[in-house]
Amino acid sequence: MRLSVVGCGYLGAVHAAAMASIGHEVVGVDVDRAKVAALRAGHAPFFEPGLQEILERGIASGSLTFTDDMAAVRGAEVHFVGVGTPQVKDGYAADLTFVDAAMRDLLPFLSPGDIVAGKSTVPVGTAARLATAVKSTGATLVWNPEFLREGFAVQDTIDPDRLVVGVPSDDAGARAAEILRSVYHPAIAKGTPFMVTDYATAELVKVAANAFLATKISFINAMAEIAEVTGADVTQLADAIGHDTRIGRRFLGAGIGFGGGCLPKDIRAFSARAEELGRGASVAFLREVDAINLRRRDRAVQLVIDALGGSVHRKRIAVLGAAFKPHSDDVRDSPALDVAVQLHGRGADVIVTDPQAVENAKKVQPQLEYTTQRDDALRDADAVVVVTEWDDYRRDLTPDHAASLMVGRVVVDGRNCLDARTWRAAGWNYVGMGRP
Ligand code: UDX
Repeated sequence: MRLSVVGCGYLGAVHAAAMASIGHEVVGVDVDRAKVAALRAGHAPFFEPGLQEILERGIASGSLTFTDDMAAVRGAEVHFVGVGTPQVKDGYAADLTFVDAAMRDLLPFLSPGDIVAGKSTVPVGTAARLATAVKSTGATLVWNPEFLREGFAVQDTIDPDRLVVGVPSDDAGARAAEILRSVYHPAIAKGTPFMVTDYATAELVKVAANAFLATKISFINAMAEIAEVTGADVTQLADAIGHDTRIGRRFLGAGIGFGGGCLPKDIRAFSARAEELGRGASVAFLREVDAINLRRRDRAVQLVIDALGGSVHRKRIAVLGAAFKPHSDDVRDSPALDVAVQLHGRGADVIVTDPQAVENAKKVQPQLEYTTQRDDALRDADAVVVVTEWDDYRRDLTPDHAASLMVGRVVVDGRNCLDARTWRAAGWNYVGMGRP
């Protein structure tokens, strides 16, 4: 099928390349000329495992092209819109400027029978608001939220857990659902659930899923706070409750909490939208989820201060990690980078390392010292803080090796990803989060 993808950021670039990889002919459109030039040359504009390969393959075969000219979408049967919906500058709501602009710019190039499939995460009610203008061209709007995780985006797009499509309740909606079914044929053939809903449900599925995941993380971090005053170990607690299949162990990793381009802004936008709808109380707990999450960053900073005897002033601190999670170079709302910035603000001599995210981190926090080499960060440090659980820090770093480079013997494990016993046995002051 011929498809267009409007917006070639984390979501759109992956979607375009993934759709080409399953046999479609895809044109990606973005207003950012530099991004388009990079994509055309076959360069992934960000680090995402597997993306580079499918990008190169799609471009080489001629089935994947990129342009900044919206007119190129003409002739595509389905137009995906995957532009960003960041948090507004002065509040919690989602900024819909890019969605509105993309839709406005797309309209003149739509033909009767075309499908416009919104993928951006939007406040419930957005699709209904945009549908009339799309319908006036003879095209049909559907909402097809994306659930991809950074670091696994290619796999999640090609082989998702489920597909959800919100459609209008008329014949055009039924036809649109069938066309989306054809787009995702390979996944559906493998048994991936394909759910057809109304607009509001599809929009809500996405924010509800992210709200649930954020709540799960903050729940375990709240338990970590209780563990800290009672001597309990939150990692054992998580293992024990996680054995209950109704609860499950995933997303019960206590530590410095969640960040990134989705969970933080999506739960805030959800609260803001619920308030507009007169149902603020229904998701008031999300404010608490956010507050618990942000407190854990401060807690990690306090643990470093305590472990260094009450002050970090002029102490050399190696911060392992800048990305909001491993397998990503994304530092948007990164708890890792936040901890580094706070330590720096308290007078520590901070050096941050990350295998992928240093360039992005430098752009937003240029005042910090950076290296891409883990061992350079560790050299002469008084303390090491693990804030992103890359294998290089979690699995491959031994206490003896760290000791051979560092001055101090303090390790603060902001992700509870190290083996406390091994580090302690090697003579280290190991400090976890929510662990005695
Ligand atoms: C998330 C959703 O998982 C995805 O479905 C949605 O489409 C977009 O938002 P992503 O932002 O890529 O994906 O990251 P995710 O893997 O969900 O992790 C989010 C944050 O939570 C990271 O900072 C991670 O370190 C943190 N986290 C995750 C924890 O602190 N503890 C955990 O147990 C799991």
